[in-house]
Amino acid sequence: MCGIIGCIGRGGDTKETLLAGLKNLEYRGYDSAGIAFGGETVTVEKREGELENLRRQLETTEAFDGSLGIGHTRWSTHGPPSDRNSHPHMDEAGRVAVVHNGIIENYQALRDELRVEGVEFTSDTDSEVVPHLIARQLDAGKPPEEAFTAAVERLDGSYALAAVVEGEHAIFTARNDSPLVIGVDGDATFVASDVPAFLEYTRDVVYLENGEYAVLRPGNWTVFDGASPVEKVVKTVEWSPEQTGKSGYDHFMLKEIHEQPTALRQCLRGRVDEFGGRFSVDELDELERPDAVQFVACGTSYHAALYAAELLRDAGVPAQAYLASEYALGPAPITPDTLVVGVTQSGETADTLSALREASVRGARTLALTNVVGSTAARECDHALYIRAGPEIGVAATKTFSSQLVALNVLVERLTAATGVEQTRSLISALRELPEQVQQVLDDSKAADVVDEFGDGNAFFFIGRGLDFPVALEGALKFKEITYEHAEGFAAGELKHGPLALVTENTPVFAVVTGDDERAQKTIGNVKEVESRGAPVIAVTDGQSDVERYADAVLEIPRTTARTAAMLANVQLQLVAYHTAYELDRTIDKPRNLAKSVTVE
Ligand code: AGP
Repeated sequence: MCGIIGCIGRGGDTKETLLAGLKNLEYRGYDSAGIAFGGETVTVEKREGELENLRRQLETTEAFDGSLGIGHTRWSTHGPPSDRNSHPHMDEAGRVAVVHNGIIENYQALRDELRVEGVEFTSDTDSEVVPHLIARQLDAGKPPEEAFTAAVERLDGSYALAAVVEGEHAIFTARNDSPLVIGVDGDATFVASDVPAFLEYTRDVVYLENGEYAVLRPGNWTVFDGASPVEKVVKTVEWSPEQTGKSGYDHFMLKEIHEQPTALRQCLRGRVDEFGGRFSVDELDELERPDAVQFVACGTSYHAALYAAELLRDAGVPAQAYLASEYALGPAPITPDTLVVGVTQSGETADTLSALREASVRGARTLALTNVVGSTAARECDHALYIRAGPEIGVAATKTFSSQLVALNVLVERLTAATGVEQTRSLISALRELPEQVQQVLDDSKAADVVDEFGDGNAFFFIGRGLDFPVALEGALKFKEITYEHAEGFAAGELKHGPLALVTENTPVFAVVTGDDERAQKTIGNVKEVESRGAPVIAVTDGQSDVERYADAVLEIPRTTARTAAMLANVQLQLVAYHTAYELDRTIDKPRNLAKSVTVE
């Protein structure tokens, strides 16, 4: 996730303050970094890669004014990591520099408009439209503050923005759907995407709300909403600098579980044509409807692939999910109209890359569904669809799995051209409601109580059918990965073909039962089988069926569609795994023997 820091009033310490702020933001993940110094002139330095590259470059640069500046760590969403795509971005005359977090949805239309007026763009980013828009307003004679707000009014989408303008001892900022906070410390004022960036200087903060602007000048700051000033309260945060890499959470995994509502909104942003009742995804414009789809993936991503294959089969498209490590050496039959989709959050998993390369050699079209812009999978495949979850630091995949499921829904609808506008509309509305429902699960979950009561089992089983089956597999994988306890996921109907022999009063069974169709009823039959053998049953349910009658405990999720219910059930199981690992004092973010990105076969 990108990070922003800005400061004014730090005198000769401006450069070090900005670099320290960027360092404090490193935990968010980034692929390039940059700084703009403002004041009488505007100077920009930016570099792809580690912050150290930028620091070395700055050692050879004079900070022109030295009293104010803005900095940015970029995590690519539009255009691969590179010096030229790094922030800050400037206008052609070098009078304005801007850093941006978020996604500007109408950037293509704005780019086209500016190009017609003769602007030459120097990056692939959505963000670069902003300095050009500000420059246009300055050219029209507006003073800098008005030029900034007039430019921002042209933007649709999410943004946290900070800008400096030549000749102005000020930092201009604006926020919509992307966090921005001001830090105040006497004559020094800071602005950042989150508090850790400046916490070593001050704990007194002012949070900006959507639609608010702020102007920071030496020794003062003002916030306004459109034309009117807004009274803001200065709050004091209680965090210590050590806590803040994790934004106050004990672990990155828990932080990332809680970031899911934001990640899911981000995944959908700009991809829904509400009016037309369809999904519109620029990246997939050239993609033709395939005869068949094969998914290749590993681990958690394989579970996402199983979910997507079922959606496609339901829509009448032959589809199958394969473990990439098996597929690479024994691929399934392929026709030129087969699409092979590599589901991989990192885009660097060796097994998945091998499977995709094998499919390509055999003549299939390939698509990477990934979180990392410019990753090997994204570069090598014919198409790429980004899940936009933001960087995930915990080895256990959490928010990337949820974002994969949402992105796969979009892909499936795009491939099947939908079964009808009404169905697509109802899917859009279910996906729109999902972030709020995930938040509800996070707020109300009883997972910690369930762990207290049942967490000392000898082994833990997870069962489900249909779309709840990949969720059961994922629940078990998450559990074993971070707790080191024995856990297995099964298709509920398979229990009686072997695993039932393992079931005792010491093997809690998590049963994912959503909806109340034939599948749900059959799973309830399986619940009765384990219950009669004395196993404690924890139902993860939306309450539509009567599974609660046979359960020892219930983890509730809101009522919704089958597709989104599976995603909500998964959040409950993430929390079960987390709380169990916490109780067992495991190294949750870095489980033993495991790596975040598995680059060997
Ligand atoms: C899940 O928690 C694991 N980190 C692991 O199973 C992971 O999903 C797998 O290694 C695939 O990684 P990828 O999505 O980056 O390809």
